[in-house]
Amino acid sequence: KKVIFSGIQPTGIPHLGNYLGALQRWVQQQNEADEDTKLIYSLVDLHAITLWQNPAQLRQWRKESLAILLAIGLDPKRSTIFFQSHVPAHSELMWILSCTASVGYLSRMTQWKSKMSVEDNAKPFDTPLQLGLFSYPVLQAADILVHRATHVPVGEDQSQHLEFTRNCAATFNHNYGQVLVEPETVLSPAKRIMSLLEPQKKMSKSALNPKSRILIIDSSETIKKKVNAALTDSIDSITFDPDGRPGLANLLQILYHLENSSTGSVEDLASDMVDISKRALKERVAHAIEQHLLPIRERYQEVLVADGGQFLDDVAREGADKAGKSADATMTIVRDAVGL
Ligand code: TYM
Repeated sequence: KKVIFSGIQPTGIPHLGNYLGALQRWVQQQNEADEDTKLIYSLVDLHAITLWQNPAQLRQWRKESLAILLAIGLDPKRSTIFFQSHVPAHSELMWILSCTASVGYLSRMTQWKSKMSVEDNAKPFDTPLQLGLFSYPVLQAADILVHRATHVPVGEDQSQHLEFTRNCAATFNHNYGQVLVEPETVLSPAKRIMSLLEPQKKMSKSALNPKSRILIIDSSETIKKKVNAALTDSIDSITFDPDGRPGLANLLQILYHLENSSTGSVEDLASDMVDISKRALKERVAHAIEQHLLPIRERYQEVLVADGGQFLDDVAREGADKAGKSADATMTIVRDAVGL
């Protein structure tokens, strides 16, 4: 049986990288899935607090992030949508997995190292290297394994965590018998969207300059401004050359994935435009983004206030209920296998 699971941190409005790398695929998978496929998507709020968050801000972001998942087209009747913190089995399995997980393997993970240097979180106090940041991937493994996921759609920056997840499952199974399912990584074709200002780096929520990313509810005007300010180069023609011309290549990628070119490659798209100016290219990119995001922005505003906010609460409660049942079924087997 196919089980699709994925997660996103509710740390602000998702950007175009989150959308093209992951969220858009979640919706596609939902719309293409047959009856037997289970779809489970989580707002991973316990992961969000591995960096200090202002509690009132986090509360607001959780709500907004749920509204975003509905606005992009996830249907709570078809997909289970829930907050990680509402299903304690995730944390329980994390503990059990951490009793067999390898510290050596965890210390080779690159993401917590890069997060150690994030300084824009307005922390009111100094913190040492937190255990939660270090063991973050174990909780991610628990998220996936507790639902017996077979497929996990993510962007490329999550590949290492997915490999670790398979390692956790294999180690657990080696010690206790064939209990957990090793999941497959499903990378989106737009697996790595780059920063608009530093196109050697991925587009990220934590980069200091907000002009480096487009948020999926940005206004048309903001989108135009940000695309206009995107770093390209001074070469006159349009070519697709990710190493030599990373800024331009990123814009072409974005255009290609938004226009959903079922025929042809991004190279073909570039050669069709070889003679147009960069200004014209940017206009076309901004237009494609605006067109694509406008209905999402409109639905977002509706969902956020639907039933005076009650609708979102209902979705969260029903999601927690369904996800809880799915996770508890696994935990019964896991506890038994371990002797608890
Ligand atoms: P997060 O919240 O950082 O990102 C959510 C998803 O967006 C993808 N992504 C990108 N894809 C393409 N280009 C980019 N520039 C870009 N930036 C982000 C990410 O790869 C991700 O798919 N640890 C995870 C959340 C998580 C999770 C899980 C994911 C927790 N448990 C279980 C899958 C399964 C994270 O921080 O994603």
